[in-house]
Amino acid sequence: MSFRVLGTGSYAPPKVVTNDDLSQFLDTSDDWIRQRVGVKERHFSVNETAADMAAKAASTAIENSGVNPEEIDLILLATISGESQVPSTACMVQGLLGLNCMALEVNAACSAFDFALETVAGYFARGKVRKALVIGAERMSRILDFTDRGTAVIFGDGAGALVLEAGENYIDSVFYVQGDDEVIGCGLPVGNSPYYERGQEKKPLAYMDGQATFKFAVNAIVNDCNELVRRNGLTYDDIAYIVPHQANMRIIDFASRKLKVPMEKFSVNIDRFGNTSSASIPMMLDELNRAGKLKRGDLLLLPAFGGGLASACCLLKW
Ligand code: COA
Repeated sequence: MSFRVLGTGSYAPPKVVTNDDLSQFLDTSDDWIRQRVGVKERHFSVNETAADMAAKAASTAIENSGVNPEEIDLILLATISGESQVPSTACMVQGLLGLNCMALEVNAACSAFDFALETVAGYFARGKVRKALVIGAERMSRILDFTDRGTAVIFGDGAGALVLEAGENYIDSVFYVQGDDEVIGCGLPVGNSPYYERGQEKKPLAYMDGQATFKFAVNAIVNDCNELVRRNGLTYDDIAYIVPHQANMRIIDFASRKLKVPMEKFSVNIDRFGNTSSASIPMMLDELNRAGKLKRGDLLLLPAFGGGLASACCLLKW
């Protein structure tokens, strides 16, 4: 027993920031960002927290599912950009939604939505929950270094959510972790312990080695998708859509060519939202669902990758 999807929702804050807007204070250009990253615009929060965005996406998913909110037994939230360590952002979402259920958080950076799906599958397998909310929500603007053109132009804010119930539609998954804080990272503020050696604090803002990330990401999509297709006796003709983490258009394009799977099979909205980290896959799923592009029984691959370093891929039947 695993789960099936009953409904989807998403939310992006109203403020749209174009590449030209960023060029006002960064040495960059609309042309460069479109060509190297594939982003035309992104949404940035002005005052909404990751929890606020998560709650809005979750409410629309609940509405879309037709489920009575009281039936939800678990909220599992993927995020790296909440306002506090305590309470967790997941607890804040539970409070905002006024639900009486357990809430916990998964941190696997941009791959975290897949890690959350795997975690929730365990709860369903044990018969512990009837309905669950799985959410990816990021206020990336909170942890971006807006003086670093290598990262600030890539990311955006938003949230996506799925309502799940017990079922058999989570078919298979792969996960990979290669602990490393050189390629991608984001520190936390250090306390004022008088016993600490100073000078080893990491900047509490996101940093990234773009080229190393690029290579890791392309290999991750290719290896993880191929592994799931192979071991489930499928071909890419059996897959309705590949819904990748929306990291960078060129990464998706490279992966498409390496896999010899046409770009039409990849769902992409990075041009309008940028890289929303753990929110990108559920936001894309909601867009496909609301556009009526997903049919019951469709097979989807959900490759994700990023900080950790970590990568994952889920094979899901719609
Ligand atoms: N605007 C304009 N020019 C920029 C720029 C920007 N935002 N960022 C870098 N450049 C310049 C560099 O200074 C360099 O100039 P030079 O040739 O005169 O020295 C040139 O562009 C190429 O820089 P480089 O760092 O080699 O760029 P790149 O082709 O590797 O592209 C990334 C940079 C970040 C777009 C690319 O590495 C990438 O997409 N990496 C993956 C990022 C990602 O997806 N992260 C999320 C993972 S979850």
